[in-house]
Amino acid sequence: MKHFVWVFISLFMMTTMQAQELKVIKLNTPDKTRGDAFMKVLANRKSDRTFSEKPLSQQDLSDLLWAANGVNRPNGMRTAPSAINAQEVDVYVILKEGAYLYDATTHVLNPVATGDYRIAVAGGQDFVTVAPVSLVLVADLARFGGKIGEQSQLMGAVDVGIVCQNINIACAGLELVTVPRATMDQAVLKSVLKLKDTQLLLMNNPVGYSK
Ligand SMILES: Cc1cc2nc3c(=O)[nH]c(=O)nc-3n(C[C@H](O)[C@H](O)[C@H](O)COP(=O)(O)O)c2cc1C
Repeated sequence: MKHFVWVFISLFMMTTMQAQELKVIKLNTPDKTRGDAFMKVLANRKSDRTFSEKPLSQQDLSDLLWAANGVNRPNGMRTAPSAINAQEVDVYVILKEGAYLYDATTHVLNPVATGDYRIAVAGGQDFVTVAPVSLVLVADLARFGGKIGEQSQLMGAVDVGIVCQNINIACAGLELVTVPRATMDQAVLKSVLKLKDTQLLLMNNPVGYSK
């Protein structure tokens, strides 16, 4: 009887754990025909810190990530330029259920950690925890190939700024709300996202619909 109870408990725990396990999210094909005209988008670009809690639709999330740093040419080049084409900027996607890493080549989200880490992105600014998604921008200086120093740090920061502005512009054009932010709990995020010492956490963008 004791044995039977243990088997039952083990099976129950395995099922629960599997249910909690994050799965790869296959993103939608980006809709390259949508969005406002460019000059209108720039006219509407602004920081907004008031979000609806409504989750982003899969199409909006897909289009946003492609705009941020997706592949836009058959040779693997990106929507965001990067110094020596190092493509060192990674976009981590923080959702209520977990943290994911955007793979631009396959246009999928790969699970990194289960759990709600929006509070770590917030770093004390509570409005961030209302936004359904935050994009966290990380530059891996090792991808420049040479010695890590002031030059690679500057280039990493510039490249993250470009991806960040792609997000700001995409949000303005897709009727999404965002604010570019440098504030975040670096220590917690570094641990949750399993970052190496060569990876710099530089900016983040909470994104959602207008309230
Ligand atoms: C590098 C950088 C860091 C920023 N960090 C934060 C931040 O941590 N928290 C925040 O609420 N806004 C942050 N902002 C947003 C600025 O406050 C905002 O862009 C500025 O007030 C101008 O407003 P606008 O974006 O509507 O033109 C940051 C902006 C930049 C460019």
